[in-house]
Amino acid sequence: MFSVKVPASTSNLGCGFDTFGLALSLYNEFFFERSDRFIVEIEGEGRHLHKDENNLLLKAYLKACEYFGKDPKPTRVVQKNRIPTGRGLGSSATAIIGGITAFEVLHGEKLSQEEKLKLSLSMEPHPDNLFPALLGGFVISLWDGERLVYTKLDFPEDIKVVVAVPDFELSTSMARSVLEQNVSLSDAVNNIQRASLMVACLCNKEYHLLKEAVKDRLHQPYRAKLIPGFFKVIDRAYQEGALAVFLSGAGPSVASFSNRNFENIGKAMVRAFEEEGIIAKYLLLDVDQEGAKVYEGSHS
Ligand code: HSE
Repeated sequence: MFSVKVPASTSNLGCGFDTFGLALSLYNEFFFERSDRFIVEIEGEGRHLHKDENNLLLKAYLKACEYFGKDPKPTRVVQKNRIPTGRGLGSSATAIIGGITAFEVLHGEKLSQEEKLKLSLSMEPHPDNLFPALLGGFVISLWDGERLVYTKLDFPEDIKVVVAVPDFELSTSMARSVLEQNVSLSDAVNNIQRASLMVACLCNKEYHLLKEAVKDRLHQPYRAKLIPGFFKVIDRAYQEGALAVFLSGAGPSVASFSNRNFENIGKAMVRAFEEEGIIAKYLLLDVDQEGAKVYEGSHS
């Protein structure tokens, strides 16, 4: 009947903890058709995910129905998932945005971006994956539980994102549990300086500054211990000419920006993981500029 295609995302980009998010050209697609009851089927990645009422996409759809006072319409949903789950690539955000977008189509409602974002945030309080999944592009956002502010920035077209994806999952809650709740003034200043620098050097295309800009002291140093070979993977990517290398979201994937040598960077990152006994693969991705899209009929 219709499908919703939602992009993966990488967030934080090193220095922009809980603030920067970038949509990527890797997609989960959700195919919906009316049915006499709710049925969820999952193909590709995340086949272990819930297929009952605990399915995240279904929960997001039902939440939207409840919020807007509509009776749910039973549907059969086939999830064609290409985004590896639990790797810091925004897979859950795609399900939440997919469910809310499906609500709009199934009920003929047109929600504002703000309504969709606020609804999505009630399911997962991290705008840095949700916003790029909905809007595409490079999104800078803040959400303090009440106020929602975001802006979208042009991202240079000649930069690709090479992501090394290790063969293990890391939950966001685990990756957040190792963080310090109170940080030093010098660490806070470090990140303010570098996040500002990153925005400026992406706008000005001063790529030689990205390696300095990406340096983080708020989350990566703590999360590194959960990811064998993390610093080695970063070093190898730089050796092959990457412009900036960082933990993708809460991890465990490691992402890099580059405008050349893409394959060599990917292979070097994978080799570094393998030297630590971790199987990994790499993905060569562009930035998605469109965000979630609806297709009528049986697009695939
Ligand atoms: N900014 C979040 C984190 C991303 O690093 O924990 C996960 O949604």
